[in-house]
Amino acid sequence: MTGVICGTGSSIPVHTMDNNDIAKLVETSDEWIRERTGVVRRHIIEEETTVSMAADAARKALADSGTAPEDVDLILVSTISSNVILPCAACEVQRQIGAVNATCYDMSAACTGFVFGYCAALAYLSCGMYRTILVIGSESLSNLTNWKDRGTCILFGDGAGAAVVKAEEGTFYQPVTHSAGSLGDALTCTSRHARNAAQLPEEELYMQMDGRGVFQFAVRRVPEVIGEVLEKNQVPIGDIDWFVLHQANRRIVEAVAKRLKAPLEKFPMNLQEYGNTSSASIPILLDEMRRDGRLKAGQKIVIAGFGAGLSWGAAILDWTK
Ligand code: COA
Repeated sequence: MTGVICGTGSSIPVHTMDNNDIAKLVETSDEWIRERTGVVRRHIIEEETTVSMAADAARKALADSGTAPEDVDLILVSTISSNVILPCAACEVQRQIGAVNATCYDMSAACTGFVFGYCAALAYLSCGMYRTILVIGSESLSNLTNWKDRGTCILFGDGAGAAVVKAEEGTFYQPVTHSAGSLGDALTCTSRHARNAAQLPEEELYMQMDGRGVFQFAVRRVPEVIGEVLEKNQVPIGDIDWFVLHQANRRIVEAVAKRLKAPLEKFPMNLQEYGNTSSASIPILLDEMRRDGRLKAGQKIVIAGFGAGLSWGAAILDWTK
């Protein structure tokens, strides 16, 4: 018994901001951003919210998998940027989609969130506790972005992606997950609800990042964890059709491909269109690949996430649709 992705969906804000729009806010240029990150534009919420995008992506994933909302046992929303604290985003999604029989909770694992969410789903499904799980990554990072900081505001975007994961017969691949709280200062954001928030310098209430430090961490740890997951499951690297990585930076993806000595064509990217959407990036990309026909039954996929915490992880899955 394993957890199989039976349907995907995504939800993207209508409004876009291209690099020239960013250059009106901070000293930067389209050329610099494209060259250093690969990002060309990002979608930014106006009317949409983290919850509304999550619910929209969830509805599409349910429709794609032919699942009735009442058949969902668990809704897991990974987010660091929900518009609600109480009730949790997952309960709000439940209300909006009518998944009356689901248990619902949120998880906070930043850009590793979808991978950790999939791992949690895998554990629940393989032990028989639940049979149908909605794993959603939804983010409104524009609310956490310091639009005066050129080191971060060029990178992020908003959006949501969802996957319906069901218990089905198939190969169970052990995922690999890691966290290193001792490195947490590399990417931080203090809660605006902190008791002393009013006394803090404004920038601490937005994301702050040691860009070079996070870059170095990613290009070392991501190939390492992919190697670990392949080794643990005795899957040769040549058997993998797609490496679906968290979409943070084109140079990170290229460096990972190089270190793994795997062809870059197996590393799909859509960060040029969306920027870094944290926990939403992997399910948005999977959904795009499903819809444009790149994903085919019988293919083997590695998903790998990394980000604040610091945290990182990878999982292997068989695509069966
Ligand atoms: N536009 C123009 N110049 C910029 C700039 C911008 N947006 N941001 C930084 N610079 C300048 C710096 O001031 C520095 O100038 P100096 O050499 O005169 O001091 C120069 O460009 C190099 O800065 P540096 O920070 O070393 O750039 P970089 O090549 O590391 O690129 C990032 C910066 C943020 C793009 C890169 O470090 C990165 O992508 N890191 C990973 C971040 C990430 O993915 N985080 C999320 C993980 S989930």
